[in-house]
Amino acid sequence: MSYDTIKVETRGRVGLVTFNRPKAMNALNQQMMREIVEALKAFQADAKIGAVVLTGSEKAFAAGADIKDMQSMDYPAALMVDLWGEWEDLGNFRKPTIAAVAGYALGGGCEVALMCDIVIAADNAKFGQPEITLGVIPGMGGTQRLARSIGKAKTMDLVLTGRLMDVQEAERCGLVARIVPATDLLEEALRTADKIAEFSLPAVMLAKEAVGRAFEVPLAEGLRFERRVFHSLFATEDQSEGMEAFVQKRSPQFKNR
Ligand code: HXC
Repeated sequence: MSYDTIKVETRGRVGLVTFNRPKAMNALNQQMMREIVEALKAFQADAKIGAVVLTGSEKAFAAGADIKDMQSMDYPAALMVDLWGEWEDLGNFRKPTIAAVAGYALGGGCEVALMCDIVIAADNAKFGQPEITLGVIPGMGGTQRLARSIGKAKTMDLVLTGRLMDVQEAERCGLVARIVPATDLLEEALRTADKIAEFSLPAVMLAKEAVGRAFEVPLAEGLRFERRVFHSLFATEDQSEGMEAFVQKRSPQFKNR
């Protein structure tokens, strides 16, 4: 499969998607959304892939949905094509995802980072939801995932003023897991993804699903889900292997990875 707006590679057990619209600051147009979703489907189907890294350029992870693409759209068209709805395929992707963010992650770019499981950011990263400056509001999770991620106070501040926040503020409020020098960003993201990909994939996928539940269901239901999933992993060979390896003081050789 060839792509025009992204580069897709595999690095061992890790899938790497690099946004590639440099002239438009990696603005996310509909073709790009579809290509990213296609690439993710292929990584989901590839049993050898244990985690995926999404990244942009040094200047921009993505400066938002493509404004020129949306400019002439009217309400019925936006409604009928369910504008940007396909991004939920990233939100629902079942293997772990890492956003490696340098430069601008604005609007849809910030929302794509929020759909990923771990955000690792370069020291030049900037986050924001500037949609209000365009006469609209975030439409891919910026009022929902962002509020669940960093709370009401910061989300209201960002969404209502459209201001950008630097990477230190983004880390303080919990949007960013780690800050690294820009030159080390991709290496750190790939190393992290590779570490995840060494573990038992069923356990990793269920861990991701269980954490995701914390944002969707009441606590008692989430705890019950977690316990049932935890119990279910005792049906896997990787549980036997992981625990046996610990007792025998050796590294586990997981089968499902
Ligand atoms: C289309 C974009 C773009 C975008 C940048 N470009 N962002 N094109 N959509 N979101 C283009 C510019 O038009 C310009 O093209 C080129 O990229 C370089 O951008 P400059 O503005 O010249 O660069 P700079 O001065 O460095 O400023 C960078 C920037 C600024 C701060 C990121 O470009 C900016 O504010 N962009 C818009 C950010 C934004 O509002 N994002 C939210 C989009 S709405 P030319 O051809 O002139 O060289 C959104 C909705 C999501 O995301 C929800 C959907 C459901």
